[in-house]
Amino acid sequence: MQQLTLTRPDDCHLHLRDDALMQSVLPDTARQFARAIVMPNLRPPVTTTGQAQAYRSRILTSLPTSSRFRPLMTLYLTDNTTAKEIQYAIRSGAVHAVKLYPAGATTNSDAGVTDIRKAYPALEEMQRCGMPLLVHGEVTDPAVDVFDREAVFIERVMIPLLRDLPELRVVFEHITTRDAVQFVTDAPDNVAATITAHHLLYNRNALFSGGLHPHYFCLPVLKREVHREALGKAASSGNPKFFLGTDSAPHAQHTKESACGCAGIYTAHAAIELYAEAFEQLGALDKLEGFASFHGADFYRLPRNTSKITLRKESWQVPDDLAFGEHRLVPLRAGELISWKMSG
Ligand code: DOR
Ligand code: ZN
Repeated sequence: MQQLTLTRPDDCHLHLRDDALMQSVLPDTARQFARAIVMPNLRPPVTTTGQAQAYRSRILTSLPTSSRFRPLMTLYLTDNTTAKEIQYAIRSGAVHAVKLYPAGATTNSDAGVTDIRKAYPALEEMQRCGMPLLVHGEVTDPAVDVFDREAVFIERVMIPLLRDLPELRVVFEHITTRDAVQFVTDAPDNVAATITAHHLLYNRNALFSGGLHPHYFCLPVLKREVHREALGKAASSGNPKFFLGTDSAPHAQHTKESACGCAGIYTAHAAIELYAEAFEQLGALDKLEGFASFHGADFYRLPRNTSKITLRKESWQVPDDLAFGEHRLVPLRAGELISWKMSG
């Protein structure tokens, strides 16, 4: 296939940062996607509806007036999030989900949840009104191997949570293992998952081939090949529980190329093209539109987009780095080729 026309996709998991950093990365997403679920892990985190509305306004004012891109906001769940805050969030119409970061699991997660039971008043209200919970599914127990943290999270947190709140709508974010694929596949319809392009395209060897590669470091970390294969099967299965969420997470070059490098891979510059490559490798380009443009919108109970985008089979070289406020960032595939190009 040389050309592919799709309904314009939505990115159901995106880090946009703020201020000048946001202004550098936002055009990449706005060019390809109609909407994005915007993560709340700013400093300080977006814990109230008022903060989410203010953040949304900053995003909207950074867009050119001709842009039809719309940010869909999220709240950062803490031990102290109240049921009232959930009610404000619902009433605002601007907040579409609440994000659970286990405290200490990843970038800007120190204010996250220390014990899920502390968040039950908020979670019960979310179950009652149908507000989705987005889960960073990794335990933080230092005794658990970093490659096992997602699988252990299923046993220790996901299963008890859904036993207690069986109708809570849950998105298991950026899944990385066959264990998570199995769990989501077997769960009832209120449980879904996002899958990133980088977890479809790479296994953990990418981190270590010929030396240490910080630009392949993200959380949850890349896993073994068997897990990558399971993700590919799930993404290309046509099962509406699985949908596109890039988890594009920009960091300045010097903060990744460091003795303690930040977690996060920037893919927004070529997001839909990277997914097209992954689906082509899977022999499943016909399943890309459902995964990228329909399943997420349906889960979030949003109208499907009506405009289209076109991708052509055409190699192009990714720049070595991109502007990121006053810094530079190194995108995925920097200096290398991508075999699909969005043309409009
Ligand atoms: O790799 C990651 N980067 N994983 C996350 O969960 C957070 C993200 C970020 O904000 O940089
Ligand atoms: Zn993320």
